[in-house]
This record gives sequence, C-alpha cells and structure tokens, in this order.
Amino acid sequence: MTILLTGGAGFIGSHTYVALTQAGHEAVIVDNFYNSSQEVISRLQTITGKAVPYYDVDVCDHHALDQVFQKHSFDAVIHFAGYKAVGESVGMPIEYYRNNLDSTLTLCEVMRERGVNRIVFSSSATVYGMTDDMPLKETMSSGGCTNPYGWTKYMIEQILRDVADANPSWAVALLRYFNPIGAHESGLIGEDPVGLPNNLMPFITQVASGKLKELNIFGNDYPTPDGTGIRDYIHVVDLAQGHLDACAYLMAHTGCEVFNLGTGVGYSVLDMVHTFERVNNVTVPFHIAPRRPGDIARCFADPSKAEKLLGWKAHKSLEDMCIDAWRWQSLNPNGYATV
Ligand code: WQD
Repeated sequence: MTILLTGGAGFIGSHTYVALTQAGHEAVIVDNFYNSSQEVISRLQTITGKAVPYYDVDVCDHHALDQVFQKHSFDAVIHFAGYKAVGESVGMPIEYYRNNLDSTLTLCEVMRERGVNRIVFSSSATVYGMTDDMPLKETMSSGGCTNPYGWTKYMIEQILRDVADANPSWAVALLRYFNPIGAHESGLIGEDPVGLPNNLMPFITQVASGKLKELNIFGNDYPTPDGTGIRDYIHVVDLAQGHLDACAYLMAHTGCEVFNLGTGVGYSVLDMVHTFERVNNVTVPFHIAPRRPGDIARCFADPSKAEKLLGWKAHKSLEDMCIDAWRWQSLNPNGYATV
C-alpha cells in the first residue's frame, strides 16, 4: 500500500511511519512542523535505512496538498495532523476549530478530487466525555466533551461519518486512542511535548531525569483502589500497528467504522510511578496535589471490536512502556532539540 501520513512527523505519526515502512509499504509524510521537529525525518531515515518521502506542507493549504497528491498514487490517508493540547484548546478555541476542522475539510476535498477514498482518522477516547460507565465500548454515546480539542475530534468523526454516508465508495476508520505512551526501542523517536508536559508519562520521565523537581499527582481521593486516577495506557508501537491493520481493513471494506485502540487494562497513577521506578531503577519524587478539573476517576477501553474486525491487539506491557519511555528520555534529555 502507498499511504499518506498527515502530521506524520508527530509522536504517533512517526511511529506509524516506521511500522508501515518496515512492513514493506510506501509511506509519505506531510507535516508543517508546527508541533514537530524536522529532526524526526533524519531519525526516521536512520531507523528505516532509507530516504523519507516528506513535504513541509500545511494540510489547510489546498494547492500545496494537491501537489503532493499529484506526485503519489495513495491507497489511503492516515490523518494525524491537528492541534492536540487539551488545556491549550480551552484558551484558543478559534484556532483549534479553524485548524483541526479546516485541515480535515481541505484534506477531504483533495481526496475527492484525486479519487482517494480511504481515510484513517486519529481520534480519541476523549469523545466519550465525562462518563463513569467502564469499559468504554464503541456503541456508547459520544459528545459531552470537556474542551474544544475534544469537540474537534467529535466533530471530525461526524464529518467523516457524513462523508462516508454521502459517498458509498469511501472507507473510513475512526481510531479512538486511549493513553499513548512509550517510544520506539531504538530510543531515536519518542514523545517530545512543547514546554511543561501536560501528560503523565513525559512528566514522570522529566522528573526522573532531574529536568523537573517532582511530580504533582492530581488527587488521591478518587473512588479507585489507591485513590489516584486510572487510565488505559497503550504502547505507541502497539498503537502504530493498529493503523496498519485499519488501512488493511479499509482496502476490503467501505463505510465508516469506529475502533477503540486501548489495552482494556487500567493502571493508576501510583501503579505507573512505582512500575517506572522499579523497572528503571530510578526515583520519581511526587506530592499529592488537588484534582485537575475535567479529570475522571477511571477510563479504559473494551478493545474487542478492533481485535475481532482488525485482528489487532495490544501486546506490550506497562513495564515495556516504562522502559522504552525512559530510554527515549535518557538519550534525548531535550527531546529533538539538538542544542
Ligand atoms: C493521566 C492521569 C491525571 C499529569 C489526555 C487527554 C486525552 C489524550 C491523552 C489526546 C490522570 C494524572 C497527569 C500529571 C497527574 N490526549 N496526572 N499528574 O488526561 O487521561 O488524557 O491525554 O488525545 O485526550 O485528555 O492523560 O496523561 O494527562 O493524565 O497526576 O502531571 O495522570 O490526573 O489521572 P488524560 P494524562
């Protein structure tokens, strides 16, 4: 298959590029490097041992994107490109709606004009909103999002559902990620948050490396065994494989399907801290802080639909995620910044 990866220089996009290439497929990256580094391209070349076809293009730029479609005969598109910071989106709704929706609509227009009718979308469990009905199943209602970022994911799912309904030849897979963490075993690519990390794992790795002083654990009074929040952490390499399996599924099926990509197992913040310390032989100083607004006690997937229809299942353990995340942090104390 020949696959376009919009936002392919990002955390999940770059790992998906490696998985596609090593499976013998042709992957092409489009990225405007707003939220990613050009250094990723050379890292990908090192890992795969071949030149990386990429274009420094904004997906909102219809003409520039069309030029890319003229150069390649794509079987499918995996749409990663978009702003993705939950907290930032609350203060910048106009930018989030403009960028995430405009890029998607522009992409769909160019796909239609170029006769490309398969798309895998990078969605999120955040579209399930504030529910305590676990595990989450694709048949459950979505919406009730708690931030503009989540609403853009919800709206883009609806846009793609409607496009599939209007165009019977289209094939759409909406992949709802749970909590992606970890890094490629080489330690050459990984999660590189801009500024202070919002998410748990990059915060832990930066505390363990001494870059940050201590971890704030947001609440230990949740109705969970140890009182801290429970999430479904999934290794980014397992997540990447899910995209390959979704592309293969779309080669044989039309219409729109939603899939949870999670392990189905929930771990608490303290589970994560203790596991990280044990497998990496480091300490992660922390203190208990107040709950973070918008957080729910537990969130984990029922991943059985992806297993049944895609033949996909996560294999890597929490230990693997902690070891691989620490290797990336240790080898890249400043992420992709080379200075
Ligand atoms: C995990 C747990 C926190 C940081 C978010 C987005 C979601 C998706 C994944 C994009 C929670 C606790 C965290 C910290 C802490 N992103 N925590 N101290 O909130 O489950 O999901 O990232 O699709 O859309 O909402 O992930 O890593 O922020 O939090 O105690 O410094 O760790 O309370 O229980 P979350 P997270």
